[in-house]
Amino acid sequence: MNILPEWIEAARQLAMNRHHGDSSGHDRYHVERVVRLALQISAHESNVQKGLVELMAWLHDIDDRKLSKSEHHVSVAEFMKQYRFPDELVHTIETELGALSYSSSMQGKKMVTLEGKIVQDADRLDAIGAIGIARVFAYGGANGRPIDDLGASGESSLDHFYDKLFKLEGLMNTEYARGLANERTQFMHHFVQRLIDER
Ligand code: NI
Repeated sequence: MNILPEWIEAARQLAMNRHHGDSSGHDRYHVERVVRLALQISAHESNVQKGLVELMAWLHDIDDRKLSKSEHHVSVAEFMKQYRFPDELVHTIETELGALSYSSSMQGKKMVTLEGKIVQDADRLDAIGAIGIARVFAYGGANGRPIDDLGASGESSLDHFYDKLFKLEGLMNTEYARGLANERTQFMHHFVQRLIDER
């Protein structure tokens, strides 16, 4: 599949606009980190179409329901139509972005392409480690969740470490991402233990 540089630039612009002003951990800096991580992982894999990796990384959270719904935004489908993406590419991007999230993988959806697996790993890496800790509390604050309510609601930010973040390491697709995830996960375990010790 031939990915035009202007498509990547347009996707980057779309992401910059879409994620502007978000304070739930899905801001433009999250997307920029995912793009960087995805390209970093790509460098450790062979036969990767880097243009497709970058394109999907910029687009990966555009349709996320967690982002604001107040104003109309251009969806990934509309964007691909506007730039006349070939049918095969539209199909690949729709399938892969539809399977990317943690909830999709819990429903048994799987990434098909290596490029999709790389973007999924990058997005998951950005949910763990020091940045993951910062994001989980930012998300909790934006959504009215307590930091820690001693298990009362099961929905505090602390619960999220056990419900999802500690599990991501075991779900990595690529070897390189698994190594990074292991280190980041150990750091989170130290942090959570310390938080529990201090309460
Ligand atoms: Ni994301």
